[in-house]
Amino acid sequence: MHPSLKSAVIAILENKDKTVNTRLQEVCELLKAAIPHYDWVGFYFRNGEKEELKLGPYAGAPTDHTIIPFGKGICGQVAVSNANFVVPDVAAQDNYIACSITVKAEIVVPLFVDGKNIGQIDIDSNTPDPFTEKDERFLEFVNQEVSKIL
Ligand code: SME
Repeated sequence: MHPSLKSAVIAILENKDKTVNTRLQEVCELLKAAIPHYDWVGFYFRNGEKEELKLGPYAGAPTDHTIIPFGKGICGQVAVSNANFVVPDVAAQDNYIACSITVKAEIVVPLFVDGKNIGQIDIDSNTPDPFTEKDERFLEFVNQEVSKIL
């Protein structure tokens, strides 16, 4: 990803005049606007001590899936696997929660604080098979920067 995009992410996250949620919201909006194959960008976080994820800030169409049990869907699987999950074709996945019929592909990257998986960034794309290792490395970078303010 372009270095200026990384700088813009850092600038948003370092702005202590805004709440953490507002900063995360702005990161979602930036990524969605800057990267053509990012059509929905959002954060899910572990819901307290429950074995479930809760939707945090996001940019894109509203989703009904504000709570996702661990193990369910791509997001719920990442909550237990601690690994990136790249889905080139969502139609080929059995354990998938559809948010919109326009979505063709998805990438979920876990977010670690002190080595603990506390949430994730989730990207939906309306473009088939758009995600590469560049997206994985970039989203790992975003999550590392986010972890510094949590
Ligand atoms: N598709 C996700 C659910 C979240 S929405 O994409 C916003 C999943 O299968 O976990």
